[in-house]
Amino acid sequence: MNILVTGGAGYIGAHTVVELQNAGHEVVVIDNLSNSSENMLRQVSKITGKKVTFHKVDIRDSQALDEIMKLYWFDCCVHFAGLKAVGESVMKPLAYYQNNVAGTLTLLEALSRHGCANLIFSSSATVYGQPKELPITEACPTGGITNPYGWTKCMIEQILMDLYRAEPAWNVALLRYFNPAGAHESGLIGERPRGIPTNLMPYIARVAAGRLPELQVFGNDYDTGDGTGVRDYIHVVDLALGHVKALRVMEQKGGLAVYNLGRGEGCSVLEMVHAFEQVNEVVVPYVIKARRPGDVAACYADPSKAERELGWKARLSIEDMCRSAWQWQKNQGKGSD
Ligand code: NAD
Ligand code: UFG
Repeated sequence: MNILVTGGAGYIGAHTVVELQNAGHEVVVIDNLSNSSENMLRQVSKITGKKVTFHKVDIRDSQALDEIMKLYWFDCCVHFAGLKAVGESVMKPLAYYQNNVAGTLTLLEALSRHGCANLIFSSSATVYGQPKELPITEACPTGGITNPYGWTKCMIEQILMDLYRAEPAWNVALLRYFNPAGAHESGLIGERPRGIPTNLMPYIARVAAGRLPELQVFGNDYDTGDGTGVRDYIHVVDLALGHVKALRVMEQKGGLAVYNLGRGEGCSVLEMVHAFEQVNEVVVPYVIKARRPGDVAACYADPSKAERELGWKARLSIEDMCRSAWQWQKNQGKGSD
């Protein structure tokens, strides 16, 4: 199939482009490079041995989207483009609503104009807010979100559900990612947070590399096994493969569907620290700090719907995530971008 990948130069997008190309799809990437660089796509080409067609386009630019869609015919759009920093979204809500929500509307209108009505959307477990049940199924209510970033995901989901209701010719997959971590086993692509990371895994990797002094563990008084926050970490390559499966099922069955993409297993902050130390034979100094505002105690998926309907199941372990994240961290500054 011919696939338009928005935000394909980013962390999850680049890993997905690898798996789409490996599965034989033709991929065109558009990205405004606001949080990535074109070099990521050169690294993708090294992995797959195939050229990645790239255009520097902002999804809010309706004219530029028209030009791309006149150049190529797309069977489906896999839509990653968006701003994703939770803390920044609290400081700059308008920028987040503008980029993520308005950008998606502009993209959907362009896709409509050019006859592409198939979309896979990067949603997030954040739409569940304070989860009402654990593990979280897709039937769990959404809302009660504590930051504008999370609301942009919720609003876009609503827009897509309304669109599908009004125009059932659309096929939409809402993929709710749990906590993506790790990097490609080649060590050529991975996550490059701007400045000091806010997510756990890249922070741990930088501490292990001696580039940050210590990890701050946000709270050890949660109602969890060891008192630290529990999340469902999923290897980014497993996540990428979930998109390939969703694409196939969408082609066969169509309609609108929501899937949790997680491993279905909770891992605490301290369990992750210890796994990273053990697998990579490094030391990760940490201090216990106060809880981070907006954090939930535990969040993990029931991913059985994706297994049943998509034939997808995460295969890679916490150890695989720790190993590949460390490999990627060590490659930084050695030509990998
Ligand atoms: P990322 O920042 O690495 O990738 C996003 C890409 O989109 C970047 O390359 C950026 O330059 C591009 N982009 C942003 N705004 C754009 C615009 N207006 N026009 C064109 N390109 C634009 O982030 P990621 O971790 O790869 O996340 C990909 C998607 O998955 C995002 O929508 C994110 O919200 C979602 N998601 C991420 C996580 C996570 O923890 N990483 C969890 C759940 C959902
Ligand atoms: N944590 C620390 N210290 C740190 C960073 C994180 O103790 O320096 C803890 C957090 O308190 C939490 C856990 O590690 O308990 C995971 O935190 P992350 O920031 O890595 O991830 P979140 O679960 O807060 O959020 C992430 C993404 C969101 C996304 C969500 C669900 O940042 O965008 O996963 O997919 F919505």
